[in-house]
Amino acid sequence: MRDLLEDLKPGGQEWRTAEAIDPARLPAHIAIIMDGNGRWARMRGLPRVAGHKAGIEPVRVAVETCARLGIESLTLYAFSVENWKRPRAEVETLWRLLRIYLKLEMPRLMRHNIRLGAIGRVESLPPEARRELALVIDQTAGNKGMRLNLAINYGGRAEIVDAVNRAIAAARSDGTLDQLQFTEQSVSAHLYTAGQPDPDLLIRTSGEMRISNFLLWQIAYAELYVTETLWPDFKRLDLLNAVLEYQKRDRRFGGLTKAASEEEENVAETIGVPSA
Ligand code: FPP
Repeated sequence: MRDLLEDLKPGGQEWRTAEAIDPARLPAHIAIIMDGNGRWARMRGLPRVAGHKAGIEPVRVAVETCARLGIESLTLYAFSVENWKRPRAEVETLWRLLRIYLKLEMPRLMRHNIRLGAIGRVESLPPEARRELALVIDQTAGNKGMRLNLAINYGGRAEIVDAVNRAIAAARSDGTLDQLQFTEQSVSAHLYTAGQPDPDLLIRTSGEMRISNFLLWQIAYAELYVTETLWPDFKRLDLLNAVLEYQKRDRRFGGLTKAASEEEENVAETIGVPSA
């Protein structure tokens, strides 16, 4: 956090926003639905893939900013299981961009001590993209800083199905299949994100009010932050604003604040609800 502030212009908008962020209450895990690449390109009379290309720089900025803030995990939705429905040329360009990003980012991931992971059915990726991904995952495996999860060929429902099937396979190989019972903890332990905290903050760009099959299980209590900004225009300041806004939220996880709980103590009888 300190080293991020040192890089910003003192008194400038980014600096003031970063200064206002409480380093003791950072979201442990931020997830981002990077949306609006196609619209960004179309607004400029460009092919949709130009929007995806322009989306690489904000990826770099978001990754670096989160790492320097001290975020534990960052998950980026890069390609959904449904995205195969797009024209073949667009899908192929996305794989090409992924490989370019990985090549370009490798030294930076090392410099910021970031450990790369992939979540999704990555076994179905084209071989070159799979190879590049495996290489960077392997080379960054010893890094102890932020976990960067790229959600690729990812679907939230597919993840839950895979988790259940993995739990069944594990029980079968242990010979404990007939006693298998699921708990919230055991399902979580078989998700692609096992061992990582659930996202505290889910950011979606381009103003769409949808979850789009992203981290369905893990976002049960995430704070949602939707910005009209299209992904290629998403800057460091947008990320800092999202974190600051997150810190203003009153997170109750289905309960009440301590003060509100105390106020409600023994109040039932005063409004005519008799004790049982
Ligand atoms: C959604 O915008 C974006 C995607 C499906 C792909 C995201 C890819 C990138 C940001 C570029 C590269 C990323 C990495 C990690 C290398 P959309 O095409 O649905 O936009 P639209 O809703 O305006 O059509």
